[in-house]
Amino acid sequence: MKTAHESEHLRILLRRSAIERRVRQLGRQISADFRGQRLHLVGVLKGASIFLSDLIREIQLEVSLDFISVASYGQSTRSSGQVRLTKDLDNSIEGLDTILVEDILDTGRTINYLQRVISQRKPRSLHVATLLRKSGTAVKQVHPDYVGFEIPNEFVVGYGLDYAERYRNLRDICILELPGDVKPKSRPVHR
Ligand code: IMP
Ligand code: MG
Repeated sequence: MKTAHESEHLRILLRRSAIERRVRQLGRQISADFRGQRLHLVGVLKGASIFLSDLIREIQLEVSLDFISVASYGQSTRSSGQVRLTKDLDNSIEGLDTILVEDILDTGRTINYLQRVISQRKPRSLHVATLLRKSGTAVKQVHPDYVGFEIPNEFVVGYGLDYAERYRNLRDICILELPGDVKPKSRPVHR
């Protein structure tokens, strides 16, 4: 039986081995940059949960973690342009060297919003790590300190990233091609 899902095509963009290597490098770099310090990671649910789980095990420091959640995309591949906090931090981050861990930087609205929210909680320092950064889609200026991969302006899934809550469990990061999809490159930047 043919389902709607079968007409969605997946094309591998980043293999699991490449992701694993890069996450290990990021972990080493973070460990070196914060040597001798205690570190606090804040993951953005749900997309960054898998990246954070792998990253934290590559960090050779005393490290704690927390999660925050925002709503932005809903069930579509387009940003609503609105960001709303749906789950706050469990613990205070006052005085902590904090890294905000995100799966993907697209328009920059989510990280821009979270940087403002988290800064108000008086961390000792606030850095940003994102596994992926799409090129040419920024609306808000965000300067992440750690970027795993620069990727083209395509909708991607896997390794935590979803389309309508599906595909988060893929080990590779894949480009999702939807039936009759308007090619992302021809999409307006401001969306
Ligand atoms: P921004 O606010 O436009 O930077 O978008 C960031 C958020 O949108 C991420 O946390 C993702 O949840 C979601 N997002 C952006 N691009 C993609 C994609 O290609 N695949 C899956 N989710 C995406
Ligand atoms: Mg996300």
